[in-house]
Amino acid sequence: MRLPHESLAFQMLGAAMAVRAVNEGTALPQAIEDTAAQLRLDRVRDAATRGALQDLAYRTMRQFGTARALVTQLVTRPPGAQVDSLLAVALSLLLEGEQGDAAKAGRGGYSAFTVVDQAVSAAASEPKTAHARGLVNAVLRRFLRERKALMAEVNRDEQARWNLPAWWLRMLRDAYPEQWTALAESANVRPPMTLRVNTARIPLQQYLTELANAGLAGRAVGAQAVRLVRAVPVAQIPGFARGDVSVQDAGAQLAAPLLEVADGMRVLDACAAPGGKTGHLLELADIDVTAVESDAQRAARIDENLSRLGKRANIVVGDASRPGDWWDGQPFDRILADVPCSASGIVRRHPDIRWLRREADIARLVNEQRRIVSQLWPLLKPGGILVYVTCSIFPTEGEEQARWFGAQLTDAIRLQAPGQLLPGSHATQPASDDDAGRDSLPSDHDGFFYARFQKRA
Ligand SMILES: C[S@@+](CC[C@H](N)C(=O)[O-])C[C@H]1O[C@@H](n2cnc3c(N)ncnc32)[C@H](O)[C@@H]1O
Repeated sequence: MRLPHESLAFQMLGAAMAVRAVNEGTALPQAIEDTAAQLRLDRVRDAATRGALQDLAYRTMRQFGTARALVTQLVTRPPGAQVDSLLAVALSLLLEGEQGDAAKAGRGGYSAFTVVDQAVSAAASEPKTAHARGLVNAVLRRFLRERKALMAEVNRDEQARWNLPAWWLRMLRDAYPEQWTALAESANVRPPMTLRVNTARIPLQQYLTELANAGLAGRAVGAQAVRLVRAVPVAQIPGFARGDVSVQDAGAQLAAPLLEVADGMRVLDACAAPGGKTGHLLELADIDVTAVESDAQRAARIDENLSRLGKRANIVVGDASRPGDWWDGQPFDRILADVPCSASGIVRRHPDIRWLRREADIARLVNEQRRIVSQLWPLLKPGGILVYVTCSIFPTEGEEQARWFGAQLTDAIRLQAPGQLLPGSHATQPASDDDAGRDSLPSDHDGFFYARFQKRA
């Protein structure tokens, strides 16, 4: 049976394929690309279907702990990976319905009847899953009948209760004994869409008027940051195509100004792709930027992003921890080290990350961050500034790391910086005793850690 692309059944089937791929270790954006190719979805003609499929997959990732635990409870004999994933997608929608989240947010809420009916059609449409359509029907109906008891049972497992791996919860609890539940909950909230306005080209107030004229509601949440009330495709954002505006989280927008760049400086952006912060730096002053990125495919995106902004950088595919391979020997006035990390501060934007990371990754990343910063430090001019950034909320990648740098880099002076920003509308954690400037921080942003070091002149 061929399902129409606009049907929920088709979209659930596609979402289940992507969810299965994540379960087998692929990052969700790649899994969605692969699924779209397998289903022969055209980027333009099928944009709406692709968007709907993506939306379902992201929603499932946010409920994946609960959904998987329910499947384990409700299915005695494993029905196969594709049916498992289809059940996870359907249960996630039913769980959202239960919490009223989708309805509250004014987006794709479906009646329980529709979800069950379409999940059964999805199973029936594929030769490999058709045998399981009775099972899909029975499992989903049983969930609806017995959900109170089932949820009480499932919630005894904390991974299912919070939709985060047990080791992740342990790290949150250890670091934030008072706030860990709020942080765990914030991982499953949809993030706001925030824009960065190039105020050198268009004053913020004028841009807000342009937005309003385009029928989009937004408000200023920082010197260049505008938060949209509702996320929209970038094609609908006024000024996006001509490079007046970019999509960038308000917390990420703090990085470039912390470097205090001035015309004529040589700046190294050491872990640069996809170039969000590179573009911001180039908007702030007329500088000479070297953008280093180890992943060649991701490095290509820096150029794409800068072209839209009408900016240029010297893009180098290389390892930031091996400057001998790419450095020309000329020291830098400024270095941005936006190092690879757990990404625990941006899980609400990338809900698959928690299911892909392993606890052992953290120690490996901590070592890599140390190696990168230690190797970059000699490239900085005396009097120059290095900004260390992670999109993490684990102190091992944040304040503990900054203290390690402070102790190792004997000619470094630690400057004021925002320190630990927690995701959502939380207050910040002091990074050091003399931490300042936090009053001006935007109120809803992703989680980041910022530290700044100046080399003694
Ligand atoms: C947090 S992301 C950077 C985000 C970017 N600064 C932006 O604002 O758009 C970290 C990047 O570092 C890259 N990376 C990881 N290890 C690296 C290394 N040893 N040298 C250079 N780049 C590295 C990753 O591929 C990833 O693109």
